[in-house]
Amino acid sequence: MINMSIDTVEAGMRVGKAIYEEDGRLLAGKGLILNDYYIESLKKRGASQIYIHDEDTDDIVIPDNVSDMVRGSTIRDLKGLFGDLEGSINKEMKDTSMEAALGAVSSKQFVSTFGKNPAFQKLQDNVGKIVEELMGGDVTIGLNSIKTYDNYTFQHSIDVAIVSIMIARKIGLPTKRLREIGIGCLLHDMGKIFIPADIVNKPDKLTPKEYNLIKRHPEIGYELAKGVPSIGILAPHIALQHHEKQDGSGYPRGFKGNNRMNISMEPRMIHLYGSIAAVADIYDALSSDRPYRKALPPEKVITIMKDMNETHLNRSIQRIFFSITPVYPIGTIVRVLNGQHKNHLGIVCALNESDLERPIIRLIFNPVKKRINPIDINLQVDEEIKIESKII
Ligand SMILES: [Fe+2]
Repeated sequence: MINMSIDTVEAGMRVGKAIYEEDGRLLAGKGLILNDYYIESLKKRGASQIYIHDEDTDDIVIPDNVSDMVRGSTIRDLKGLFGDLEGSINKEMKDTSMEAALGAVSSKQFVSTFGKNPAFQKLQDNVGKIVEELMGGDVTIGLNSIKTYDNYTFQHSIDVAIVSIMIARKIGLPTKRLREIGIGCLLHDMGKIFIPADIVNKPDKLTPKEYNLIKRHPEIGYELAKGVPSIGILAPHIALQHHEKQDGSGYPRGFKGNNRMNISMEPRMIHLYGSIAAVADIYDALSSDRPYRKALPPEKVITIMKDMNETHLNRSIQRIFFSITPVYPIGTIVRVLNGQHKNHLGIVCALNESDLERPIIRLIFNPVKKRINPIDINLQVDEEIKIESKII
């Protein structure tokens, strides 16, 4: 299958990978033959790219760290939990002072809406399943969720959880810790339910007042999570600290980091979990379409993250992250920049685990975008060849 822009997809093409609604239901299942109605509806929902079935690339398996089934049911549980919590707050509470908001979420009534919520119970089971699938699968990160405007919050939360657990697994943390990190990441942006949706999803630049409201979500999320004993003591700190920066310039508390992997809690310092979640959050946000910009090309995402090293993102965690994250994930469309195949287009069909920047690519289009007999090139062998990612 190949990843295509929704603008170039045509009626008659077959969906290569399922797309989910906000509530976890299938929007377009694998194998569905697209018609104009479906294409329009996908555009309206803000899906900008979609995997399309393609004969020449049929054998390429685009790895997903977590199965569609577990992903779908986790989205449903998140939606159920967030919906119930949101249902128990009224509109005025979203415009209230920070103190009043924190008071409301720590109230007995709110805590029991949360802790006893059946969706929350199921969510905890799903974290177990996510960890199990990640432990039994690939060591490299492969995120292929199709995010629409509607399902962004939930898909993003799952992807942040996946990346964070993969980093923690590579560090060698025990399963209990992986589960703790998983639940913390699934709930990391939960505080946003106290912020008016039109500000959270605003396509234009935020005013200083709106930005100040957004900056409340870590504290509110922390207060919410720490009231529920089964979440544990450390996981709520993921909600609190995922926007903190190593140099102390982040929010909400301006905690600092020491760029190392310290597992102990120290006053006014970013905890290991917070540092891991910050890396995962930035990676997934930059790689996804947002209301105010399109997803950035994968090589650009990596460059930006390297620029954030030490000041914003924890150096030691980033080193681990880059050792398991391919610059060009399998399925990325790439253009050859030099040599005899200059300007040919192809798809990343396999990774070289010893060099995640130099994958194996399969050329399928010539420079005028006509199909050719597929040619596989191993970039680790053909060291001279340069590529860039491309959207077709
Ligand atoms: Fe956040």
